[in-house]
Amino acid sequence: MPKWLKDAVFYEIYPQSFKDSNGDGIGDFNGIIEKLDYIKGLGCNAIWMNPCYDSPFSDAGYDVRDYKKTAARYGSNEDLIRLFDEVHKRDMHILLDLVPGHTSEEHEWFIESRKAEKNAYSDRYIWTDSWFHSPEGLNYVAGESPRNGTYVLNFFKCQPALNYGFLHPDKPWQKGISDAACIATREALKDIMRFWLDRGCDGFRVDMADSLVKKDDEKKSGTSEVWKDIRKMLDESYPEAALVSEWNNPQIAIPAGFHMDFFLDWVGNGYNLLMRDVSDGKNNSIFHKDSDRSILDFMDEYMEKYEKIKEQGYYCLITGNHDTIRASYYLNVSELKLVYAFMLTMPGNPFIYYGDEIGMRYMQLETKEGGYTRTGSRTPMQWDDTKNHGFSTAAAEALYLPVDLSEDAPTAAGQEKDKDSLLNVVKDVLTIRNGNEDLKENANLEILYAKREERAFAYRRGNLLMVCNPSGQDAAMEGKTLPTAGEKLYQIGEVDHQNGKYVLGEQSFAIWKL
Ligand code: NOJ
Repeated sequence: MPKWLKDAVFYEIYPQSFKDSNGDGIGDFNGIIEKLDYIKGLGCNAIWMNPCYDSPFSDAGYDVRDYKKTAARYGSNEDLIRLFDEVHKRDMHILLDLVPGHTSEEHEWFIESRKAEKNAYSDRYIWTDSWFHSPEGLNYVAGESPRNGTYVLNFFKCQPALNYGFLHPDKPWQKGISDAACIATREALKDIMRFWLDRGCDGFRVDMADSLVKKDDEKKSGTSEVWKDIRKMLDESYPEAALVSEWNNPQIAIPAGFHMDFFLDWVGNGYNLLMRDVSDGKNNSIFHKDSDRSILDFMDEYMEKYEKIKEQGYYCLITGNHDTIRASYYLNVSELKLVYAFMLTMPGNPFIYYGDEIGMRYMQLETKEGGYTRTGSRTPMQWDDTKNHGFSTAAAEALYLPVDLSEDAPTAAGQEKDKDSLLNVVKDVLTIRNGNEDLKENANLEILYAKREERAFAYRRGNLLMVCNPSGQDAAMEGKTLPTAGEKLYQIGEVDHQNGKYVLGEQSFAIWKL
């Protein structure tokens, strides 16, 4: 386990939209460098940056054309290496986004693979052996290449699946995971990882980490075998390199070799119910003031998984990401303050999606670069009240996506000045987290009070007690499980401890020393 992960608080950057340093309307590496002190000032000491490689951008860069070359629009390889250096100068770390399951259909490997003549890349992707054979149960494309066969897709049409093999191959065209061609794919992935690690990157967020080995790898033993092998390389040669998986299944991802896994937003799961539950046509999210949900709807699922992996890795909570509708679409600022305070005092590495710290809004926009409904969560960062909210000096029409120009659009500069702002809640809670061993990723968690029919809840981490009442009504908590409070370190709203009872005003949160 890389040592730095124990107290890493991440900030996710969608590079297109963070900061444009050269006035061409799109964010870039130099822009990110300009804003590193802002990120550090929030209390974050680590970054995950979405794909920044050469790409035709049919899926915002998750369709990689050349893994070893940066997209010109963000800057050169040298600029990225300078970003690594600037990050390290500030005692921070940075993860690149690794896309192992597919490439762009414009990647050189695929251009070779689709040729009729056999060559070194013929089996780099998954092809059936005839144009009229479809790979059962998998998405595929037929009729587009000189080669006689159909090829498997991993996601969009532009993303052919790389070949890591089949767990139980039963057709002549299906390779086993130890077949030389599949090992070659795996080695090519390791080579890409070494390329960036050798240049100063601190690890990777791994896209669709569970998607490598195809049918019938339902239990993911085949995919896990690939990751264990990759982790071995890291442990031997890059012990401080970190891996976080987009998997949403820590019981499998962590034993497979990942240091961290995300709790992702899937409709109806515990994470979704925290902030985004509108499944019955009304907002019934746990942190919505007027919902009737108990925190147990989150905790039951979270604790089960957390308990299984807590000795070996981290289960990470995110404010959102480039694939989710921003939480501010469902929750108002008071509600966001509470849910952030909660997430930032939980175990595992917290991830803040750029702009969520100021409650940037979801915008209704036409799709851009394969974003569809996700596009509205990818708009330019709102820095201040200057042109384009300080994102870029380009003309408004030249921007990657429009800036939120609504009159009350939040900005970082505006919120810095307001001591009650969402931004300052994030900063204050992170100051406490960063200053307390008990709030670090691996420190213990115990739920002390949570009831199906009540909204208020309490949890303990080491010598600290957190209490929260997300509802619009006052609440009180008492019982043998609740220790006597000592010094109150932080509070939102009205919270008190009187005669052995915790008394919580509507929408309140507090951290007490015991
Ligand atoms: C998950 C990424 O987060 C998403 O943005 C992308 O479209 C797909 N994987 C495909 O790579």
